[in-house]
Amino acid sequence: MHDVLPDETHRWQRVERRVRALLESSCYREIRLPTLEKTELFSRSIGLATDIVNKEMYTFPDRNGESLTLRPEGTAGCVRALVQHGSLHAGVCRVWYCGPMFRRERPQQGRLRQFHQVGAEAFGSVAAELDAELILMSARIWKTLGITSLCLQLNSLGSADARQTYRSHLVEYFNDHRAQLDDDSIKRLESNPLRILDSKNPAMQSLIAAAPPMSDCMDEESTAHFATLRALLDGAGLDYEINPRLVRGLDYYNRTVFEWVTDRLGAQGTLCAGGRYDGLVAQFGGPDTPAAGFAMGLERVLALLALDEAVSEPRAPQVYQVLVGEEALHSGLQLAEQLRDAMPTLSLCMHCGGGSFRSQLKKADKSRAEYALILGNAEVTRNTVLIKPLRRDTAQYEVAREQLADELSRLLRPDEPAADAPQEAAS
Ligand code: HAM
Repeated sequence: MHDVLPDETHRWQRVERRVRALLESSCYREIRLPTLEKTELFSRSIGLATDIVNKEMYTFPDRNGESLTLRPEGTAGCVRALVQHGSLHAGVCRVWYCGPMFRRERPQQGRLRQFHQVGAEAFGSVAAELDAELILMSARIWKTLGITSLCLQLNSLGSADARQTYRSHLVEYFNDHRAQLDDDSIKRLESNPLRILDSKNPAMQSLIAAAPPMSDCMDEESTAHFATLRALLDGAGLDYEINPRLVRGLDYYNRTVFEWVTDRLGAQGTLCAGGRYDGLVAQFGGPDTPAAGFAMGLERVLALLALDEAVSEPRAPQVYQVLVGEEALHSGLQLAEQLRDAMPTLSLCMHCGGGSFRSQLKKADKSRAEYALILGNAEVTRNTVLIKPLRRDTAQYEVAREQLADELSRLLRPDEPAADAPQEAAS
């Protein structure tokens, strides 16, 4: 579980801001959900035979003996909340969320035990255009963030019945080749044979490649749905790769599944994943409501961005207040409050802890502020403040306190570089 320190948070904020704006502009509205839920919510939806439920959840008994789990993902909680609040009765419902998820995986680069997802879920339509909307929206997120090196992999898992038939075909096939299976796959043969297709074991790749494809068992409606989706994505000019081995590690999917992957992040190259889960709402006692969604891992998005980004510095304050002397300290605190009232977006750093004029000015410089606002006892008596430009070679000058907000607004106007300051005044 990682800390995100203040020197890094501006990178997170920038990504979150852009993604949030994009989701909102596509009519997805934010939903905020608890981090802790009843264990049963996840075991029933994600599936008892999955790695997540089997070995990765942080699960513990509450004081009254009820089993609780730190959410390993956001889809199940979304469905629970929307069913519980009766929000799935009118038209298409679109939501997004952002927050920490927890999985007790073996930690490695790009795989954390607490990680962060931004997810989008849409309920109420079986139409392939909903899948296309979600996929195109995820593609637009990459465009907004300036990420170009991703490949979209796409597959259809068919209906629940088709998947069941496919499952038995796979069990038969892998049983015939049991001697070539590793221990993990032998275990999965009983519990979750589709996941064998996901194995990264090099010794099993030719066996997996020769396994019967899902398309052999696909029902007619799912085949048509997948064809429509592909035509929509082709029409939108989006490139993708059909990956018949893409099965996903959660049990609730049917029909469309997709992943955005990169080979630039080593083994943990999936940035975003999702698909359709038409049966989940009804499974939780809600009205029969088809649905689809995706979630992206923010740590992986940030890691990929970092490969191409110049090291960016956190935002510097615009002004640093230098306060020399007892009177200046009291008066400076009031001045800072007045400025914050008058200029709500001003970023002002107030010096704390006293010290000489020289040492305070050094700190002002180190803060990378544009200007130092200097207040000594003489300025307090004259009801003025000294403005000292810190990034330009121009002289400091004195301004009456009641004109300070106007003067700072003029200096800090974003697209007009400040004119040269008036002539130097005495301190
Ligand atoms: P998921 O594939 O389990 O799907 O996770 C989605 C994304 O979360 C992954 O592609 C990855 O970027 C990130 N992620 C997962 N585990 C970790 C980890 N241990 N460390 C860092 N990042 C990680 C879901 O969670 C589904 N709920 C997605 C979905 C939404 N399907 C439909 N709607």
